[in-house]
Formats: sequence, C-alpha cells, structure tokens
Amino acid sequence: MTGYPDEPSDDASGDSHERGPINEDRRRLVSWLWRLPVLAALGGAGYGLVEVYRVHFAKLVPTDQPTFAPRPEHDVAPLARFEAPWDAVTFDLAGLPAVAVRLPEPIAGGTSDAATHLAAFSRVCTHQACIVDLTTDPEAIAFAFNHRTDRPQLTCACHYSVFDPLRAGRAVSGPAIRPLPRVRLRVVREGAEPHVVADGVEVEAHGVRG
Ligand code: FES
Repeated sequence: MTGYPDEPSDDASGDSHERGPINEDRRRLVSWLWRLPVLAALGGAGYGLVEVYRVHFAKLVPTDQPTFAPRPEHDVAPLARFEAPWDAVTFDLAGLPAVAVRLPEPIAGGTSDAATHLAAFSRVCTHQACIVDLTTDPEAIAFAFNHRTDRPQLTCACHYSVFDPLRAGRAVSGPAIRPLPRVRLRVVREGAEPHVVADGVEVEAHGVRG
C-alpha cells in the first residue's frame, strides 16, 4: 500500500506482461543493427574488387569484322584535309559526335586510299557518355590521364578514360570497358577532288574480352 490509490503500478498498468517480449525484440533488433555497417562495408569492398578487376583485366577487344548500321551519308571533309598522320576532323553523323583520323597504318573497320589510312570513331565515351577528344601529345596523356603511350589517343576528361585509335578504339586506360564504336568511312571521287564521307556506325563495338 502506498497511500496513493491512483498511482500507476506495474501490475495495475499491465506493462509487466509486455515488457519481457518487447525487450527481447529490441535486443534482437540491436544485435542486427550493428551488423549493417559491417555488411555495407563488405558489400562495398566486394563491389570495389569486381570493378578493379573489370577495369584492369576485362576490357573488351574490338572485333576484326565490325558490323555497321547505315546512317545518312555525311560529307566529312576533302581527302586533302588529312595531309599527315593524326590529322583529324570532328563531325556530326545524324546526331552522333564523331571524329575521323588519319592513321599511320590501317586498322580493322577503317578505310584506305593508297597510303592514306583513315578511321573514324564515335566521340561518345563508353563509360558515361562524355565527349572524347584526340590528344596528340603523349606527355600530356601521361600527365593528365596517367597513361604512358608513344602516340595520340582519344581521351575523356570526365573520368580519364583513354582509347587507342590504332587498336580500333579499344579502351586502354581508365574506367571505360567497351571500345569506342567505329564509324564507317568511304572515299568518293565524284567531284573535282576526292572527299571522305561517313555512312554507318558500328552496331556492337566489342568482341572478346582481353
Ligand atoms: S565518361 Fe568518359 S571516362 Fe567517364
């Protein structure tokens, strides 16, 4: 007896009947909650390892026989505009930013006119769709893109992917896995001077894993 008949007591409120199971539930919840950050950390580490593997060991190799989806023919430039190796012209093929490059040697999916070897690539980075540019200075590529090379490369400034035109647009550094799709070129000789035209885009820009 307390002398205060209205004072709530454990027995009177009925809480004592529920406190046991509730505390047990709370204990179980807390024992799971501490595991969440551990599981999240393990998941993050696992994802990171898979990405490292993909980025360094699973880049896709361009196929030797690309398949092109036709596009309306686009006049890129007079052939004379590609006077020396690594001369390049950017253009837009039915909404696709692209670049045509004169290469020192032929590649699969390119075109040649006597000793003039040309190839063209989509400029849409296969990582997250930023626009790539032809960077001609190997020292700049080493410094800015952390990739050692002896020749110009197509580079993406967003996350530093590098694509090698002489390897048919293969991703050689950075987070991109897939090569740049090639653009089909032809040299036409209908007017006073030969012109380079583009009329197709590679459908599936990868072959085997390298
Ligand atoms: S968008 Fe080009 S590297 Fe990410």
